Amino acid sequence: MMVTELPSTVTVCRHPLAQHHLSILRDKGASTEQFRAAMSRIARLIMVEATANLPLSRTIVETPVAKAECRMLSPDVPIIIAPILRAGLILSETALEILPMASVCHIGLYRDEQTLKPVTYYNKLPTTIDYRSAHIFVVDPMLATGGSAVAAVDIIHNLGVNSENLCFVSIIAAPEGIRHLSASHPGIRIYTGALDERLNEHGYIIPGLGDAGDRMFGTL
Ligand code: PRP
Ligand code: URA
Repeated sequence: MMVTELPSTVTVCRHPLAQHHLSILRDKGASTEQFRAAMSRIARLIMVEATANLPLSRTIVETPVAKAECRMLSPDVPIIIAPILRAGLILSETALEILPMASVCHIGLYRDEQTLKPVTYYNKLPTTIDYRSAHIFVVDPMLATGGSAVAAVDIIHNLGVNSENLCFVSIIAAPEGIRHLSASHPGIRIYTGALDERLNEHGYIIPGLGDAGDRMFGTL
C-alpha cells in the first residue's frame, strides 16, 4: 500500500521523535528495558495525535485575578482505553498518563499462530456505560493481519459505539491489517507510528519488530 493510497481515516505519525523511538524498537539488539522505554515514548506521541479530536465543553474558571472562559473535557463523555492483552498493556499505561480520567477496559485476545485467527479469552467492558457518546481508544502495538483488531473492535461496536468515536492506536501496521480493519469498520480512525511493507508467510510484519508481546515482557 503506497502512502498516497491510505484512507483519510489513517494517520501515520511523522514526528521525528517517533521515528527515533521506532528505530530502537526495530533493533533486535535492544534490551527488554530499552524496548519498553522506547515503546512507552512512541506511544505517548501517537496518543497525543489520536486524542486531538476529543470534544470540549465551555466552562468558566476563576483565576486568582479574573474569570476566564475555558474549555475542558466533559465529565459526561466517557473515555475508554481498551488495551488488547498482552502487548497493549504498556500502551494503556502511557495512554492513562495523558487521559487520567479514562476507564481501562481490557480485552484478552491472542493470535493462534497456526491459523492466524484471533482467540478471545477475556473481556472487561462493563455493560453500565452509555457507549453511544463514549470515545474509545483500542491500543495494540501491532496491526498485522488485522484479525485481532477486528475481533476487539467487533466486541466494542456491538455495544453501540459510534464508529467515528473509535480509534485504533498501533505502533506498526501492515497494509493488510489497515485494509482489513478499515473494510470491517469503515469510519474507524487508525493511528500508527509506521506503515510497513507487508506480512511474511508466518503473518509477521516485514520489517516490523518481531513478536511485540515477547519483546515487551522478556519472554522470547
Ligand atoms: C500480537 C499483537 C496483536 C496481534 C496482531 O499479539 O499484539 O494483538 O499479534 O496480529 P494480527 O493483526 O494478525 O491479529 P499476540 O497474538 O502475539 O498476543 P500477545 O500480545 O499475548 O503475545
Ligand atoms: N504480532 C506481532 O507481535 N508481531 C507481528 O509482526 C505480527 C503479529
